[in-house]
Amino acid sequence: MSEAAIRLKMSHISKSFGGVEALRGVDFTLRRGEIHALVGENGAGKSTLMKIIAGVHSGFDGDMLLDGKPVHFRSAREALAHGIGMVHQELSVVPQLTVAENVYLGVQPVTGFGAVDWASMARGAREQLKKLGLELDPWITLGELPIGIQQLVELSRVLFSGASIIILDEPTSALSPPEIERLFRSLRKLRDAGNSIIFISHFLEDVLTIADQITIFRNGRKVVTHAVSPEIDKAWIIQRMIGKGHEELESSYLGDVALASPKDAKTVLEAQGLSKAGSFEDVSLTVRSGEILGIYGFMGCGQIELARALFGKMKYDKGSVRVDGVARRLSNTAHAAGAGIAYVPESRRSMLFHHEPIYKNTSIAILDRLSKLWLKPDAERAIAAKHIERLSIKTPGTEALLGNLSGGNQQKVGVAKWLTFLPKVLILSEPTRGMDVGAKEDVVKIVRNLRDQGVGILVISTEPETVLSLADRIMVMRKGIVSQEFANETISKDRLLAAA
Ligand SMILES: Nc1ncnc2c1ncn2[C@@H]1O[C@H](COP(=O)(O)OP(=O)(O)OP(=O)(O)O)[C@@H](O)[C@H]1O
Ligand SMILES: [Mg+2]
Repeated sequence: MSEAAIRLKMSHISKSFGGVEALRGVDFTLRRGEIHALVGENGAGKSTLMKIIAGVHSGFDGDMLLDGKPVHFRSAREALAHGIGMVHQELSVVPQLTVAENVYLGVQPVTGFGAVDWASMARGAREQLKKLGLELDPWITLGELPIGIQQLVELSRVLFSGASIIILDEPTSALSPPEIERLFRSLRKLRDAGNSIIFISHFLEDVLTIADQITIFRNGRKVVTHAVSPEIDKAWIIQRMIGKGHEELESSYLGDVALASPKDAKTVLEAQGLSKAGSFEDVSLTVRSGEILGIYGFMGCGQIELARALFGKMKYDKGSVRVDGVARRLSNTAHAAGAGIAYVPESRRSMLFHHEPIYKNTSIAILDRLSKLWLKPDAERAIAAKHIERLSIKTPGTEALLGNLSGGNQQKVGVAKWLTFLPKVLILSEPTRGMDVGAKEDVVKIVRNLRDQGVGILVISTEPETVLSLADRIMVMRKGIVSQEFANETISKDRLLAAA
């Protein structure tokens, strides 16, 4: 094994937020020319350690050496000046600005006369995006593009900024497999040119594909750093992440899944020939009471738009919908909710209140169901406490501000608040995004429980494991149309991917 030069050496790093110990005595070493993956459960401390390296958190205990010299960054700008760039877990692009402006955010090139050099900006942006396989008009407003493209634009800004230490905190959550493939090619090129890359992900398969080294965190401590080699597999990693077996989830990751639909259950949702120009075409589906229909497809295959249409958030051009046998025009969300449909959107950020405590966030979804008079703060706290327990949300308590939770734990709050009552039809869009293996399993249990109480459930996800571990029947979408349906048979991940 080659022992390349150590770029970064962190020793005995500890960091607390109030009473919460996010990191305890962590040692971490990053070498030149390696891709180093960080994995661990939601709230394990991954983002916190990275924010220390990138100058976001300047208060911490312990030592940090960069190329053998002690450093202590007071700002992200200072870290960047030392060649350290980070793509954060939460997208930090500016949707109101153009693609080119986002690529050059904070570092716009200037002409010899000191004016912004728009021409070279456009050229540079085009070239950088092309490396990630994107052919984009640099002057389009970024916010108009799909979220996956926005994520690629953000990645390109840091990847090609000249930083020699590149930190990517869950960079693939909104990308399709071909986009991930191109990203990985860029990462390998950057690595082979001598840069160092830190890659945080809950997709362990991706980690095993791309990383040279892997460091596992549990509860603010480092468990182990190990070279990625044939004796390391997903089960090996999961064991060290969680410390206990998760057989059910493992089987949906690795083996065949048997699909079985309930017989003779009544149909609660039926769509006939739904079309929306540019998004999806001629989609027909049924969901029965006590059944989970999974819709799988790559990012951008029209599945998210379909979900929106079924909840009245987007108008469809053609087709008809029946809920519980009654024809419905779902022309707005109030109609859909009135017909008994509930919907958990994929972008839960916008529906959460980051400056409010957890208990305010979990009660919002049920406010109009329970009498507002009844909902005294104590009752709200009791509901929140139940959620925290059911989904193992890592937090000091119901009073903690949502914005201070780790990324995955915020996602859990976003999902939990919708899972408290029994609608006729429940539409879940990307219910497990950003969650660790254990949390995914918790979501699976809760959703199955709702199904067993007779709710008809539609799960839309770009994560094959999520669809395979939840669905009783699976529809696959490709470029806006239903390409295949799987029912009453066994199916493997390979077959599912091949249909998409
Ligand atoms: N600004 C903050 N204020 C208070 N607590 C915080 C803050 N940032 C992080 N924490 C806490 O520190 C712990 C570690 O969080 P961190 O964001 O590092 O986790 P993570 O490993 O990145 O998890 P995830 O996979 O969910 O993103 C969590 O308990 C979190 O609630
Ligand atoms: Mg994180």
